[in-house]
Amino acid sequence: MSTDPAPVPPSLEVSGLAYAYPDGHQALFGVDLTVGRGERVALLGPNGAGKTTLVLHLNGILEAGAGSVRVAGMPVDKRNMAEIRRRVGIVFQDPDDQLFMPTVREDVAFGPAAGGLRGAELEERVMEALKQVGMEEYAARPPHHLSFGQRRRVAVATVLAMRPEILVLDEPSSNLDPASRRELADILRSLDVTVLMVTHDLPYALELCGRAVILSEGVIAADDRTQDLLCDEPLMRAHRLELPFGFDPRSVTVNSG
Ligand SMILES: Nc1ncnc2c1ncn2[C@@H]1O[C@H](COP(=O)(O)OP(=O)(O)OP(=O)(O)O)[C@@H](O)[C@H]1O
Ligand SMILES: [Mg+2]
Repeated sequence: MSTDPAPVPPSLEVSGLAYAYPDGHQALFGVDLTVGRGERVALLGPNGAGKTTLVLHLNGILEAGAGSVRVAGMPVDKRNMAEIRRRVGIVFQDPDDQLFMPTVREDVAFGPAAGGLRGAELEERVMEALKQVGMEEYAARPPHHLSFGQRRRVAVATVLAMRPEILVLDEPSSNLDPASRRELADILRSLDVTVLMVTHDLPYALELCGRAVILSEGVIAADDRTQDLLCDEPLMRAHRLELPFGFDPRSVTVNSG
């Protein structure tokens, strides 16, 4: 008898995923993407490429028109939805889509409470997540009184509090000040989770993700080491990806795990 442990299924397996919005606009045309346990992958691509549409399939907010999505080996369908939502933590592009309770504390407690945490254990989980994003002093404040960057950080805390298997972040660094941007990078590096990060912030992708994929016109157009992708000028140009002024991806020593 073999004593090898059972193979760990990938955190994410997207296969042949196609989707058209109800108005008939087709956004995804057959996306294939596998993300192994513990990998950090950047999802790059121009405005309108379908990145957010893809993200919304990962926990069943949108239902695949064709193809399939599996999380930790489980198909994303109605039967598994509670478990899928526990395992996939999505930080939405707009924090206002995520924060709806009267206080920051209640927003961060919402997911863990739905999962059965109560009392001191729940409060501990909430404060730990708020502390990770440097927002513990804001626990009693209404989210709608916070600045955009502060709301983004609280939105990250709502997801961290769930301790998901895969963390999906849709443009996490947009509107963050440089210190908050770096602090979020430190958090992401310190966590033992799979990360799929949508971003237009290419240096951030390089710093955090060893691997990157380019989504373009609803298909995966490239999948490679982030540094190799960013150094491929014709590829970058073909997909409207531009590095910030003066940034040379070759000059960076990468240690992105
Ligand atoms: N609710 C909707 N109904 C119809 N079409 C939509 C809807 N939401 C998005 N689209 C279209 O689907 C395509 C993909 O949009 P999506 O938001 O996924 O792009 P994105 O890659 O996230 O872009 P960005 O970088 O601007 O966030 C776009 O052409 C968009 O106009
Ligand atoms: Mg988007």
